[in-house]
Amino acid sequence: MPTPLIERYGEHLSLEAGDPVVTLNEGSTPLIHSPRLSERVGAEVHLKFEGANPTGSFKDRGMTVAVSRAKGRGAEAVICASTGNTAASAAAYAARAGLRGAVIVPEGKIAVGKLAQALMHGARVIALQGNFDQALTIVRALAESHPIELVNSVNRYRIEGQKTAAYEVCDELGEAPDALAIPVGNAGNVTAYWAGFQDRGASPVLYGFQAEGAAPLVEGHPIDQPETIASAIRIGNPARWEEAMNAFTASRGRVAAVSDQQILDAYRLLASSEGLFCEPASAASVAGLLAHGLPVAEGSEPPGSVVCVLTGHGLKDPDTALGKAPPVIGCEVDLAAVEKAVFD
Ligand code: F0G
Repeated sequence: MPTPLIERYGEHLSLEAGDPVVTLNEGSTPLIHSPRLSERVGAEVHLKFEGANPTGSFKDRGMTVAVSRAKGRGAEAVICASTGNTAASAAAYAARAGLRGAVIVPEGKIAVGKLAQALMHGARVIALQGNFDQALTIVRALAESHPIELVNSVNRYRIEGQKTAAYEVCDELGEAPDALAIPVGNAGNVTAYWAGFQDRGASPVLYGFQAEGAAPLVEGHPIDQPETIASAIRIGNPARWEEAMNAFTASRGRVAAVSDQQILDAYRLLASSEGLFCEPASAASVAGLLAHGLPVAEGSEPPGSVVCVLTGHGLKDPDTALGKAPPVIGCEVDLAAVEKAVFD
């Protein structure tokens, strides 16, 4: 059973002495070597499968810390804007802590599994007739005028918790990888990984990927109406814009865009040839590596080792999976018919 992240890495987190530990035993996720991708890109590729967290995404790392602090300071409720995973995680940790939860999501634009999670955990789910960026602006204003804790990644405890993924990668490999490929939405996670690597005195090349229709960091300006099949990263104005760009620059890395088709191809490849079912947004890290090749910092050798972060579980979004998968084969109760269906 994984040790709660706060117990494992508590000395690097700035929780207060009296804070409770609100945990679902998150973290300690598998780092899986991929011989096929390694051969394809010419470097040792590992996949950090964050879908193995309790609510199925990396958000749990930040949420255990943010909700523990919120509870410690006497908050009675938490709120967030979300493309789905933050909502699911905030709802679960709020339930665990005995706090009320409210989540604001873009109407019709979050994967059905995430919606089911947020509702089952008892959060009040508000479907905003707008996008994530508008939802975030609204929850920021609400949190300023009401006694409710904002648990988006603008909350520093979220970043602190999420940086532990970088610690795990270093601990497992015995050293930092040469490069890290990661999907980028609101830009909290890449900011967190960079903080974690810096804590370890490491500077892997950061290689961030946004979806083509939602690539403000690549285009250099906010996108009013972001669009992508990877709903988790359908974000046009990332809150951690500056920190993320500073991290790309400091690491001598870069941020690039991948098309929805490239995302879907990587999504299918990971499921069908690696046995790893991640959600579409997560596949952006592998899509980017395949589409753009190894990141090579000026004046440096190509990286020998790359970690791709698979941020969330494929079960979150069954609609996209079934929409892209081959059909189920129907069959009558008859040995010969089943034989034909199996072997033909
Ligand atoms: N991958 C997944 C599966 C996500 O859910 C998110 C963000 C990201 C990548 C990007 O991470 O925002 O830190 O750059 N999801 C947020 C949410 C926005 O509301 O669940 P980021």
